[in-house]
Amino acid sequence: MGVQNEAFLADALFQPIKLGKLELANRMAMAPLTRSRADDNLVPTDMVVEYYSQRASVGLIIAEATQVSTTAQGYTNTPGIYTPEQIAAWKKVTDAVHAKGGRIFLQIWHTGRMSHTHFQPDNQAPVAPSAIAANAKTYINGKGYVECSVPRELEAAEIAGIVDDFRIAAANAVQAGFDGVEVHGAHGYLLDAFLRDGTNRRTDAYGGSIENRSRFLLEVMAAVVKEIGADRVGVRLAPVSPVNDALESNPQPLFEHVVRELEKLHRCISTSSKATRAARATTRLSIMKRCAACTPAYGWSTTATPRRWPKRRFVVAVPTWFRSAAR
Ligand SMILES: Cc1cc2nc3c(=O)[nH]c(=O)nc-3n(C[C@H](O)[C@H](O)[C@H](O)COP(=O)(O)O)c2cc1C
Repeated sequence: MGVQNEAFLADALFQPIKLGKLELANRMAMAPLTRSRADDNLVPTDMVVEYYSQRASVGLIIAEATQVSTTAQGYTNTPGIYTPEQIAAWKKVTDAVHAKGGRIFLQIWHTGRMSHTHFQPDNQAPVAPSAIAANAKTYINGKGYVECSVPRELEAAEIAGIVDDFRIAAANAVQAGFDGVEVHGAHGYLLDAFLRDGTNRRTDAYGGSIENRSRFLLEVMAAVVKEIGADRVGVRLAPVSPVNDALESNPQPLFEHVVRELEKLHRCISTSSKATRAARATTRLSIMKRCAACTPAYGWSTTATPRRWPKRRFVVAVPTWFRSAAR
């Protein structure tokens, strides 16, 4: 990148931008970072208020992955957004960020098989598309790192309940003052595990074909968008990341389908051959700048950048509100 371009980029980063209905003070965004600083009732503590308040000068904070229900936890002291106490504590966070002119989304997740019986109600097995344990570890206070437990296969009839958990979590997040939510559809957690053929061996309407494996994520997105509106909803996808043992034999058609369906659903997700280059070479910051310049919406894989990118054009997704902001 030439010196002039660098100067232009640096200048643009500090310009305000409108994203959907949101006014952001600048084009920098903070990625969600799990911190394990909730109390034992999974309520964010005052330390969490201070942490996000200290970072409010960034244009948009995407707060850490937060459980949608009691079965969604997979790590020690990660927060929830399903009890009145949790909602009230998050309200202190959003008030503190808003008081400094910041904007904040909440990332909502269900960890699925990336969990341990220790975290589950009545020490039951965690849930997953199929009963295949992740070759990965989690952390339990006092025990240290432990292998994730063997999960049980979710009954098809249970899936609607989890879709509703995401919908309610989104409504709770808005009640807690968040400007929007990002659905965690990446990194081998429940929704991503349904997408991938290495983790989903089901033979029902939620397994097998690409259409079937995508169904759960798309149902969640539809429910959340219906609940709080498309311009407050983003989704995180990580098409080529093998993190947390999330294997997929053919990501290209899978994620092309997912993004196409998301675009249909919200009319605000775009793909572009330039997306690969944008994802490889830039961060969210420059993506926001490009959106502001009314170029086609650029996407990114926000997961750790793989050493080698596929030779073919690769599809990446942007939060739903980026595209509308570009208009
Ligand atoms: C300690 C730690 C916690 C993280 N927690 C989350 C999280 O809660 N949700 C999420 O989507 N990504 C999480 N990530 C991934 C980061 O958001 C980010 O993608 C990663 O650090 C790589 O940076 P990059 O995306 O800019 O390449 C976490 C990463 C680290 C190091």
